[in-house]
Amino acid sequence: MSSPRGQFSSKTGFIMAAAGSAVGLGNIWGFPTETASNGGGAFVLVYLILAFCLAYPALMAELTLGRHSRSNTVDALAAVADNNSTKILGRFVGWYGIVVASLILSFYTIIAGWMLAFLVAPITDLLGMSEASQWLSNQSLTRNLLFGGAFAVLTMSIIASGVESGIEKWSSRLMPMLIILLILLIIYVLNQEGAREGLELYLLPDLSRILDPKLIVNAMGQAFFSLSLGVGTMMVYGSYLKKEESLPRLGAIVTTVDVGIAFIAGLLIIPAMFVAQHHGATIYGEDGNLLAGPGLIFNVLPVLFDSMGTAGPFVAFAFFGLMTIASVTSSISMLEVPVSRVVESSELSRPKATLLIGGLIFLISATIIANFDQLFGLVVDFTTKYSQPILGILLCVFAGWVMNRDKLLKELKEGHEDIESSMFWKIWPLYVRVFCPALILLSFWQGIAA
Ligand code: PHE
Repeated sequence: MSSPRGQFSSKTGFIMAAAGSAVGLGNIWGFPTETASNGGGAFVLVYLILAFCLAYPALMAELTLGRHSRSNTVDALAAVADNNSTKILGRFVGWYGIVVASLILSFYTIIAGWMLAFLVAPITDLLGMSEASQWLSNQSLTRNLLFGGAFAVLTMSIIASGVESGIEKWSSRLMPMLIILLILLIIYVLNQEGAREGLELYLLPDLSRILDPKLIVNAMGQAFFSLSLGVGTMMVYGSYLKKEESLPRLGAIVTTVDVGIAFIAGLLIIPAMFVAQHHGATIYGEDGNLLAGPGLIFNVLPVLFDSMGTAGPFVAFAFFGLMTIASVTSSISMLEVPVSRVVESSELSRPKATLLIGGLIFLISATIIANFDQLFGLVVDFTTKYSQPILGILLCVFAGWVMNRDKLLKELKEGHEDIESSMFWKIWPLYVRVFCPALILLSFWQGIAA
């Protein structure tokens, strides 16, 4: 081992980092658009239930496994196993998580690069450099490589500084900014004409869709992606947590912040679409559903910004600033998964390991950028649709079956003396053994069959 392990300096530091990982493009872009295309309020309702009943227990499995073994994902899973074959399985699951986290980072970097370009465009606009703004707002190979690369460098520079002075410091600075920006933008948008219609669509559930299997599968996928589950991110962050903190409480706080910010982001994005419609933007696709993909962020919302006159560039800057901040606090958590493994199993220093791994992942991003139509959807599906649920099940199996009940209890007692008499301990162990894997499997199956 080339350097001692890092640690979060405080409870707040951990909450900022873990909530920073959870709150990302998945909340501010993914959640509102999934809501829009899955029956509005009905999706919100199902999502809330799944986030607390399925994602929270799975998050607890990762945090407990991580803090118990205080190591990277590969060693953590091997350490709880008590025979050779489960050790091998543990190493395999750890590596699978590392590959998936790296691949998620590779496509995340591309989208975040778009956000960065759109963040700079209002500045060139204000400076009267309209050609530059045009270039920044249109898809091109050079722009995507350049801005994807800039985002990768940003992510690497934070991870190279370590747990406390990189991850914790930057998450603690950026998360409050994110919340302030989000609230300011909501106040602004809700006061525009057309916003009310969007608000109604968002908040009034179409109850007839609540049991729609497709809606349930989408809500589960969204909850897993949003809480950064399955790939070992939360396990690694848990491994940097002090023993005196209560895991169930911290997990509950992180889940609530994540769900809360997704919900609040819906109050911004959906009304903003209807305000844009008021200004002439087309917000419904040919299938009659609200636009959801990149078209929403990069075509619909710019109509809105353009209609705002002098306020336009400032609001656009704030919006893409919000997106960029949300992306950085998540991307660092993805990069930490492979980097922690390399730092702990080789002689490489953290900065060198970061440069090596970050550079390799950016090479994958560049390959996807150059073959976008063939590769982008493939990588997204392989990681989020298939691998995250499979890994989610395996991690619950490790926490529920491999790590025995006594070890679990001992770990959870640290920082939570009276856990044995709590509701959590009465429900969770059985839940993580049986219900979580079964429910994830069921909806995974539904999702593939659909
Ligand atoms: N939770 C992040 C988001 O909502 C994405 C993420 C997935 C982060 C997996 C880390 C690991 O955007």
